[in-house]
Amino acid sequence: LNNGLALTPPMGWLSWERFRCNVDCVNDPHNCISENLILEMADIMVNEGYKDAGYVYVNIDACWMANYTDENGGMVPDPKRFPNGPKYLADKIHAMGMKFGMYQDFGHITCLGYPGAEFHLEQYAYQFASWEIDLLKFDGCNSVPRDGDTGYPVMEFFLNKTGRQILYSCEWPLYQLFKQEYINYTAVAAGCNTWRAYHDIQDSWDSVKETLDFWGNNSGNFASLTGPGSFSDPDMLIVGDFGLSYDQQRVQMGMWAMLSAPMHMSVDLRNIDPKSKALLQNRNVIALNQDPLGYTARRLLVYTAPRNQGIFNVWKKVLYQQGSYALAFVNYSDQGTPNTYTTTLGQLGLTNASGYNVTEIFSGMTVGQFRPQDEFKATVNPEGIYLVKCVTM
Ligand code: GLA
Repeated sequence: LNNGLALTPPMGWLSWERFRCNVDCVNDPHNCISENLILEMADIMVNEGYKDAGYVYVNIDACWMANYTDENGGMVPDPKRFPNGPKYLADKIHAMGMKFGMYQDFGHITCLGYPGAEFHLEQYAYQFASWEIDLLKFDGCNSVPRDGDTGYPVMEFFLNKTGRQILYSCEWPLYQLFKQEYINYTAVAAGCNTWRAYHDIQDSWDSVKETLDFWGNNSGNFASLTGPGSFSDPDMLIVGDFGLSYDQQRVQMGMWAMLSAPMHMSVDLRNIDPKSKALLQNRNVIALNQDPLGYTARRLLVYTAPRNQGIFNVWKKVLYQQGSYALAFVNYSDQGTPNTYTTTLGQLGLTNASGYNVTEIFSGMTVGQFRPQDEFKATVNPEGIYLVKCVTM
């Protein structure tokens, strides 16, 4: 979407995956979806390095609303959990130098039964603009998926009409995928800044793998449509939550960077393992995510080595700097010991005769210089990743 926003993938925090629809502030005041939760996260983002690392969007997902509308059909924030209303939150978050995102649904009710935006698109666009939000996540529950082809662009038209710059985060293709309908990715990419192409991420390695496989298969060639202004969205980062080992967290972080994916953390920042925190703030990996070309990595091959010696997924990302690439070697094997994939850069399409300077991205350490025909070995932990940058010499 050419609205001047999301020139690189947006980065921030989003409540859904970790905090869900916890509305019980009586029994669980610490974790319920509320003004306090959002402001606590925003504070930590500022004070503990996340904002400086680039995470600037603070986003509330579902369940911020009351389950009724006002006398004009307008949206009403839950009066107990958001006593000061969204504009207050926006002001606070803007004063911290960050941006504020909210959630609605294109259907008549949201996934969780709150009032949806159907028949109120223009009204709600103006209401969001009056609250000074910077991002709208627009879901598709309880709508007719085919109607998304007109509905999502109409909402964008109204958002644009308000005159406020609002990053438009769509779930348009996902609901068509559910119904196995034709997806016009060209229209989606033109109509949205970020677009959820696959199912909700859950807190598990299986979920991360399934998501990566969808991007690997790239049916409909949607990956070719990403770039500044429009990014395919494999959903939130679950780094620091319950489900992933440290190596699996590195896979998610590294691969979301390879895919030029939006990086919205969904984690309790008040209570996060220092290693996960460092991973989320790894400057080299973030730089890979924020590469100005905005290219979505392609999976070159999947190779199952004989005698259980690794299941390798090899991915390549073209970088903005002429003749530079990132390569990711992800090992799906769970067989308890690192495995080595032996190849040459030439076999992976890196054919510049004078060779490449190769560095490991997480650590920034030099690996060496390789010509296209030189043997190149990637040693990868089980359910882990080896991530390198190759710069033409
Ligand atoms: C859908 C979306 C999720 C989240 C929930 C909230 O499942 O895909 O990202 O917003 O709704 O209900």
